[in-house]
Amino acid sequence: MPSILIVDDEPGVRSALGGVLRDEGYEVDAVDSGEACLERLGRQAYDVVVLDIWLPGMDGLATLARMRERQIEVQVVIISGHGNIESAVRAIKMGAFDFVEKPLSLEKTVLVVRNALRQRRLEAENQALRAKVDAPHIMVGESYAMAKLREQVAMAAPTNGRVLIFGENGTGKELVARNIHQLSRRRTGPFVEVNCAAIPEELIESELFGHVRGAFTGAVADRRGKFEAAHGGTIFLDEIADMSLKTQATVLRVLQEQVMEPVGGSTRIKVDARVLAATNKDLTAEIRAGRFREDLYFRLNVVPIFVPPLRERQEDIPLLADHFMAMLAREYGRRPKTFEPDALIALQRYAWPGNVRELRNLVERLMIMVPGERISSRDLTFLDPGATTVLSQAPPISASAPLHDARDQFEREYILRALAAQQGNISRTAEVLGVERSNLYRKMRAFGINPPRKVDDEEPA
Ligand SMILES: Nc1ncnc2c1ncn2[C@@H]1O[C@H](COP(=O)(O)OP(=O)(O)OP(=O)(O)O)[C@@H](O)[C@H]1O
Ligand SMILES: [Mg+2]
Repeated sequence: MPSILIVDDEPGVRSALGGVLRDEGYEVDAVDSGEACLERLGRQAYDVVVLDIWLPGMDGLATLARMRERQIEVQVVIISGHGNIESAVRAIKMGAFDFVEKPLSLEKTVLVVRNALRQRRLEAENQALRAKVDAPHIMVGESYAMAKLREQVAMAAPTNGRVLIFGENGTGKELVARNIHQLSRRRTGPFVEVNCAAIPEELIESELFGHVRGAFTGAVADRRGKFEAAHGGTIFLDEIADMSLKTQATVLRVLQEQVMEPVGGSTRIKVDARVLAATNKDLTAEIRAGRFREDLYFRLNVVPIFVPPLRERQEDIPLLADHFMAMLAREYGRRPKTFEPDALIALQRYAWPGNVRELRNLVERLMIMVPGERISSRDLTFLDPGATTVLSQAPPISASAPLHDARDQFEREYILRALAAQQGNISRTAEVLGVERSNLYRKMRAFGINPPRKVDDEEPA
């Protein structure tokens, strides 16, 4: 139900306008000052604020200015005193949707509110679409492991080389593949995904290479295959360990000869598609067991990229949780909830067998299920840290790096963890670490750490 907040110091306006808007089916609250309005907006999301210009204390324009400063997303309808067009115009310039003049016509006001709501819905839809288009490709994370991964992606992308992406379920293998495509010269070409596990064995060849009419029962028309669809772009073969040996042989031939034959056809089609592949299985074990062709493995594995499990980069968990919260809130048109520090610790303690995908799903569930604006560890009691209390483990540091690098790496990880534990508040982090705030800033800059989130009460040193 759309929600409206009326801000007017006249009790008569509050009750009359409140009445007609409720009759329209809106949820209506009313307050009598700019201060009370801001306080309300800090606690609850509204769709439209009907704001009187003349108010005792902070006036309407000042209130509007504060709302803009705080980036509160709400449509504002101004009630301006008779003959006070200038302020109304100023309010519009500051982003108000429209204004109505006093003495108030209730009918006109209802109409303007209705339009403001429609505008708000359009904007929300627009944002949701944008969130869907942009967000899936951002790789979030400041851990050393993520930095390495980004580096590998950036190095592999511009080459035309085949990349084999390893990693457990839900670690972000597809995301890596999409990033490689986007950073490559083929970015304007298609990105075609084939989930080899999801396609029935007898259809996979037709799926990959297409078929001609009559090639088999049900082939009622010619059909283009995925390899052809990916011409000039990238084909992503997901879950390759699930291909049958027969399909593996055919794929191998395509990779060797760069040509393919549609099922039942006699013409050979030249294809120019870069092949990226992914698996969550241990392919060397599959090869030993005779389930995967070694020659195909070598063909695909020109550049191997390993996506680490989430439990090995737990300092990224708060960043990912915030990222998913913001993204999903936009998608659902809701206000994002905040994670309390104890909730973030609980999230970091959990072992995440389903990795980033599991975290994403959990955030979605919390956004829907938790009633308030804040998520605390009490909302997470169902997360069982189980046997793997990863927090107690040392960060994964290779023992072959020069001492100086290892020290930097440790220091970076350590600062990131401390920041995460303090929810990105730099003053508090500095206090916990026992260093000057300016010193911490310098180190963060040196290690390329961005403050994980904006904190109102802080300015950069
Ligand atoms: N570093 C990251 N930053 C932001 N989102 C991420 C990150 N890693 C993964 N995701 C998101 O997590 C979800 C799972 O990622 P993805 O599908 O790429 O994993 P996968 O390894 O291919 O999983 P599966 O093995 O289940 O196929 C997706 O919604 C993806 O966008
Ligand atoms: Mg996948």
